[in-house]
Amino acid sequence: MAGGVDVRGRIEDLREQVRYHNRRYHVEDAPEISDAEYDGLYRELETLEGEHPELITPDSPTQRVGGEPIEGFEEVRHSVPMLSLANARKVEDLREWDARVRRLLGEDETPCYVTERKIDGLAVSLRYENGHFARGATRGNGAVGEDVTANLGTVRSIPESLDDNPPRVLEPRGEVYMTLDDFERLNRRQEEEGKPPFANPRNAAAGAIRQLDSRITARRPLKVYLYGIGEGGEGFESHSGMLDGLKDYGLRANPHKLHDSIESVVEECLEAASQRESLPYQIDGVVVKVDSREQQLALGSVARAPRWAIAYKFEPLAGRTRLLDIIVKVGRTGALTPQAVLEPVNVGGVVISRATLHNEDYVKEKGILVGDTVIVERAGDVIPQVVRAVTEEREGDEHAFEMPARCPVCDEPVSRPEGEAVTRCVNARCPAQALEHIIHWSSKSAMDIDGLGEKLATRLFDLDFISDVADIYDLESGQLAPLDGFGEKSAENLIRAIEKSKDRPFSLVLYALGIRHVGAVTASLIATRFGGEDLMRGVEFERLTGIDGIGAVVARAVVEYFDLEDNRDLLGRLMERGIDFEREEGIPSDGPLSGKRVVITGTLDRPRNYYVGRLEEAGGTFTSSVSKNTDYVLAGEEAGSKLERARELGVPVLDEAGFEELF
Ligand code: IVH
Repeated sequence: MAGGVDVRGRIEDLREQVRYHNRRYHVEDAPEISDAEYDGLYRELETLEGEHPELITPDSPTQRVGGEPIEGFEEVRHSVPMLSLANARKVEDLREWDARVRRLLGEDETPCYVTERKIDGLAVSLRYENGHFARGATRGNGAVGEDVTANLGTVRSIPESLDDNPPRVLEPRGEVYMTLDDFERLNRRQEEEGKPPFANPRNAAAGAIRQLDSRITARRPLKVYLYGIGEGGEGFESHSGMLDGLKDYGLRANPHKLHDSIESVVEECLEAASQRESLPYQIDGVVVKVDSREQQLALGSVARAPRWAIAYKFEPLAGRTRLLDIIVKVGRTGALTPQAVLEPVNVGGVVISRATLHNEDYVKEKGILVGDTVIVERAGDVIPQVVRAVTEEREGDEHAFEMPARCPVCDEPVSRPEGEAVTRCVNARCPAQALEHIIHWSSKSAMDIDGLGEKLATRLFDLDFISDVADIYDLESGQLAPLDGFGEKSAENLIRAIEKSKDRPFSLVLYALGIRHVGAVTASLIATRFGGEDLMRGVEFERLTGIDGIGAVVARAVVEYFDLEDNRDLLGRLMERGIDFEREEGIPSDGPLSGKRVVITGTLDRPRNYYVGRLEEAGGTFTSSVSKNTDYVLAGEEAGSKLERARELGVPVLDEAGFEELF
């Protein structure tokens, strides 16, 4: 692509495509292309914009990454107040509300009702001016909220621009929320990073929207469902028509149902209550609205809530009970998790007697003592958690929790690295972790033992045929063949696959060991410098951190792993069984840059060795002079003749960011 016009055109074209597929995916929940295809388009756009920063516009779909942090939020006065809703606790309340609506409307009018799920998130207003997202605000007190434009701008289901000729000002309103899956994933990440977990998806969503640094918001998986329009919504004759209108504008409208009687509404509310637990996101009720706009206006509002709508609220998913004890569970990754033993309590129809307390710091920071009265919450299938202690109810005989110094399962000392929130058992032979390790070991990306998946591994583990990964190599076909579902043939196939895994190079063996923080790339960095024998003899921390790309956290985890006698025993047994522990020479031939020749020139952000290492790891070769066989030139500041030569020959020139893109 030579001329600037072509690039500009291509960028515009890519933006259109990315916007279209964003909408299919994030707004309409109906993607047309695979994630990989989407990534391809997105990456091409990012690369072109990287090469032509002068062509970046704020409305480009790549600009949803957040911007510079701000000092505080500005106030926003809502031009149409954001109302709240009256509540119905029982279906009887709904019938009474219906009677009142009918009384107020008079005999000639029959109301039609719309029901929507009441999403448990954070209410926001989105202001579009001339079809472009101009301002986003929280509800606040209904009259004045906070300007969270930058944060809402990172939410993928909020398009930057509208379709279908919107009015000059259109102010859709709705709920920003987080799905339960995303919530769980986020909390896991929080814990791994030593940060406190969120109590529930609503707090997580609200916390993300109230970030002063929108780059943090951009990394939180938020979604929006819109259920109304403030300014600009006057033209619709019905609520259901407005929801359809939102969709026509390309917005994500909350799904709704229409009802011609209150009994049908009641039925819907009861059904929603029973489905509540199986939805991908949390709802706390059903909102019922009079459909006709004219009837809405006739009914009007009282005390900041419209008379034409009501929220049927479910039982809260929180309960209060006694914390009888705190025990410690060892997970399949070796994480020690304090678990609350509770006096059984009914929380929204489910009796809870256990709940998570996440980790040691969580218990300390919340000041939770054994014997306390506590509040427990649950959400869908997410493990229930203790969210706080009711300290006013202490009697004086409560006591603090202490994390044990040894693993409750294998009795080996546990470790809690500095800066991490999680205490772990690092004994690879700890029975609590052994099965997980066996599954990882035989997986495709590790030792690739065809046929030994999670199901079979669990079965063999339960049968006591294998209790650690070394035992896999002692399996015999005579042992397997009589098993249900097995036969001579499949038994032999498995034995053959096990044998074949002995050909896997040391870098993969090292990765398969499942040492914390040692992924495939790190493993291959280490495996080209040290063999198994070196590591077992003990490699100093500094020699590991001396490798480009290996930091203190990884080095500490490696040293710790090889320090443990149980681990060294296991390695000894693996060696005896013929697993490859030889230091590796080679360069991977199947990396993303395999066969590519790259010249590195000029002053770069990091030491040149870093880029060479990265390149070689990915299968590429580093060459010193530019020729027509050169695939890329990585050029830093003050690059001289090599850069010129590359330009002459038309060899693609990359900066550091462009180089990283290649991976
Ligand atoms: S309608 C005038 N619809 O519930 C009507 N609200 O207690 C105003 N909410 O602040 C709201 N889902 O945050 C409406 N489908 C829905 C809703 C919904 C959740 C929240 C919203 C509002 C609160 C009202």
